[in-house]
Amino acid sequence: MKELTILKPDDWHLHLREGIVLKNIIRFTSEFFGRAIVMPNTKKPITTIKECISYKKSISEALSINSTFEPLMTIYLTDETVKNEIIEGFNNKVFFAAKLYPANVTTNSSQGVKKIENLHEIFEVMQELGMPLLIHGEVTDPEVDIFDREEVFIDKELSPLIQKFPKLKIVLEHITTSHAVDFVQENNLGATITPHHLHINRNAMFFGGLNSDFYCLPVAKRENNRIALRKAATSGKECFFLGTDSAPHLRQWKAFCGCAGIFNSPVAIESYIKVFEEENALNQFEKFASLNGPNFYNLPFNTEKIRLVPKLNEIPEFIQVIEKNKVVGQIKPFHGGETLTWRVEGVIK
Ligand code: DOR
Ligand code: ZN
Repeated sequence: MKELTILKPDDWHLHLREGIVLKNIIRFTSEFFGRAIVMPNTKKPITTIKECISYKKSISEALSINSTFEPLMTIYLTDETVKNEIIEGFNNKVFFAAKLYPANVTTNSSQGVKKIENLHEIFEVMQELGMPLLIHGEVTDPEVDIFDREEVFIDKELSPLIQKFPKLKIVLEHITTSHAVDFVQENNLGATITPHHLHINRNAMFFGGLNSDFYCLPVAKRENNRIALRKAATSGKECFFLGTDSAPHLRQWKAFCGCAGIFNSPVAIESYIKVFEEENALNQFEKFASLNGPNFYNLPFNTEKIRLVPKLNEIPEFIQVIEKNKVVGQIKPFHGGETLTWRVEGVIK
């Protein structure tokens, strides 16, 4: 087996959290990724320019001194979002994109959008500005089966939206179904694909008892969908790019409330490359990880490179969260306790 050198990747969908968790986890992304789109669903969501500047400052302060990592910030859309905040925030490069969470769809989304039509004026403005709209694509209607919520969102909400705003730059985030794979390609959207949705199907949540380690939103679906996602990610097609949706929850919370989210940033690159290797598509990995995203977002490629080496890589069961030299919590990483077969060996300047 040969080693691989690729342009430094970016993570186009990431949860960095705040405070002590942010300080403990940011290194897992900043070490090997050039940029990341940072999700705005903090406890108090990022809904204004002022909050965004302050959140970005706390992220910068959590980085090591020589880090070149660049966080790309987002605004959390609500029914109350005003046009001027969008225009000013985007023109002044405070916001890179806007995130649409349907209200109550996932973690910290209670202030999300109750009715998408309420935002038509905002979408009009974003379309004109060329500002990307990042969508958590699930309906929240409790009558709809949780495994169908992405598909129903696409048909009932997204389809009319793109007809009304054909030039709006849209990314359907963390896609989980073959329906989404097809829809994204047919309608010129972009889509992020997570490592976990490439590895697990819905059985994982029920393996050895009810297992919240594999509970995330959108939930993993049937095996045929996982196969479609693997085919899409490894196809090299420009519309599909890397977005981990790494979403850390302290063990005590995850165990207690089974909150949705899988923390994969400590193993993201190794996890993805395992899929590309299994699919005989190592030659497509750089496109997915480092080229398709910048092309979609009209950004330059990163200039540094990373070296990936086929080497046994034992993933710890837990990552410790440390404050003032004391362990204050732990977070289970994706693949925790497994031995992977690739390792990122370093950055080439
Ligand atoms: O599994 C998820 N976790 N999905 C999301 O959409 C949000 C995320 C989180 O913030 O924990
Ligand atoms: Zn997310």
